[in-house]
Amino acid sequence: MVSFYDSFMVLFEKRFLRKARQSILSKASGRVLEIGGGTGLNLMQYHFDIIDSLIITDIDIDKRLIKRVQKHPHQDKIKINETSVENLSFPDASFDTVIFTLVFCTVTDVNQGLQEIKRVLKDNGRLLFIEHIHPRKKSLRTIFNWINPVWKKISSGCNLNRDIKTSLEENGFTIGEYQYLTKQIFVGGCAKK
Ligand SMILES: C[S@@+](CC[C@H](N)C(=O)[O-])C[C@H]1O[C@@H](n2cnc3c(N)ncnc32)[C@H](O)[C@@H]1O
Repeated sequence: MVSFYDSFMVLFEKRFLRKARQSILSKASGRVLEIGGGTGLNLMQYHFDIIDSLIITDIDIDKRLIKRVQKHPHQDKIKINETSVENLSFPDASFDTVIFTLVFCTVTDVNQGLQEIKRVLKDNGRLLFIEHIHPRKKSLRTIFNWINPVWKKISSGCNLNRDIKTSLEENGFTIGEYQYLTKQIFVGGCAKK
């Protein structure tokens, strides 16, 4: 079923998110782990000529993700794994690339999730991300704080006032690239541990 959140996001998808996904995901290579794959919107944007394998995780696997994988031309390289980012079932240093797009707004324990990503990422591995964040503008920050409790309820736990850059830095990642995709809210980038 298409949720209120999905319908709302279609607008952003058309305007800039699809393009941002294309750009960020083209950098994924080697053994790749995607966190919080959702309905599988990223699937068609990966460059499978530079990818050995892709594991897509989510705390709650959506049927649309399963269908998209089954129809995918590179389905032999793709696995789905129902797991929470706070408790990943993979050995240390097992991935060249870890990716998440629009996930850490919903993760319950952000620090634990980022520590787990750090653990499974190889030393020279790359973390790629797209997130929405607490706006820079003071008036918008106040409005976002104010509507957050209601938004969280209607969007299955999404928070409007998180800051992925600070969280990454606090968890020992070095940001390599950090770019605003819109003036205030959406950012994308890459980091190393
Ligand atoms: C807003 S959706 C984004 C889906 C997809 N990444 C995209 O860009 O369209 C957030 C996803 O994160 C997943 N998620 C939330 N908390 C999670 C957690 N702790 N571990 C793994 N996935 C989680 C949700 O189930 C949902 O599929």
